[in-house]
Amino acid sequence: MKYELPALPMIQLKTTEEIAKMRAAGRLVYRVIHETGALIRPGITTGELEEHAIQIISDSGGSSPCLGYAPAGHPPYPAWTCISVNEEIVHAIPGARVIKEGDLVTIDCCAELNGWLADSAKTFPVGKVSPLAQKLLKVTEESLIRGIAQAKPGNRTGDIGAAVQKYAESFGFSVVRELNGHGVGKSMHEGELHVPNFGFKGRGTVLQCGMTFAIEPMINAGRRHIRTRQDGWTIVTQDGSLSAHFEHTVAIVPNGAEILTNGD
Ligand code: MF3
Ligand code: CO
Repeated sequence: MKYELPALPMIQLKTTEEIAKMRAAGRLVYRVIHETGALIRPGITTGELEEHAIQIISDSGGSSPCLGYAPAGHPPYPAWTCISVNEEIVHAIPGARVIKEGDLVTIDCCAELNGWLADSAKTFPVGKVSPLAQKLLKVTEESLIRGIAQAKPGNRTGDIGAAVQKYAESFGFSVVRELNGHGVGKSMHEGELHVPNFGFKGRGTVLQCGMTFAIEPMINAGRRHIRTRQDGWTIVTQDGSLSAHFEHTVAIVPNGAEILTNGD
């Protein structure tokens, strides 16, 4: 009887030098999100925000891995960023949508610089938002922080997902399950590393030094179910409830996770 070992998932480990290059891409992504985020105000369109993002990325010598991205079953993605408003969870195509007071606007940017990528997202409140929207923002951001705290050598992807889910659900919010965090490196969705935002402690892939990936909780104020709009990209809450999304690219290092997209 011949036993075969299960194939190990393909996960690219990075050197310290490679992580430093990803951090440079991470700094660019941070600038895009924060400089574009500073322009958010009632009356501006998501397409105008995209124009600023394009300017920053191209002036820096970077490029967008999103533009033309066409996984099976999707038309090529037609923009450099994703800018999702209110009930839009992720992957909304910037365009004519006009921002108004009280909205939640997510800028999600993945950029390439000198061959290396970083991916990050942040949801911004527009002016005065409802108490529910405020709570959703705080809880989603904190769920990311709690997920990152579980990212260390020897822990597993399930430890991250369990921490995110437990925290978000304790406020009565729900976790989007169809989309995960992912490996990031020389490409945007790299290798076979998947980082769900729900699940069980002690399950999933064991984390080791040199792994680089995005953690990106998408949390809904209502039910967790999603729908894709006719454009083939925009993912919205099925019940029309608000959604928030925070994302960082991290690197696993001996004492935990380094955040590569925090502007440092
Ligand atoms: N941060 C997004 C993600 O990981 C970037 C998507 S680009 C798009 O899914 F082309 F897919 F929209
Ligand atoms: Co991502």
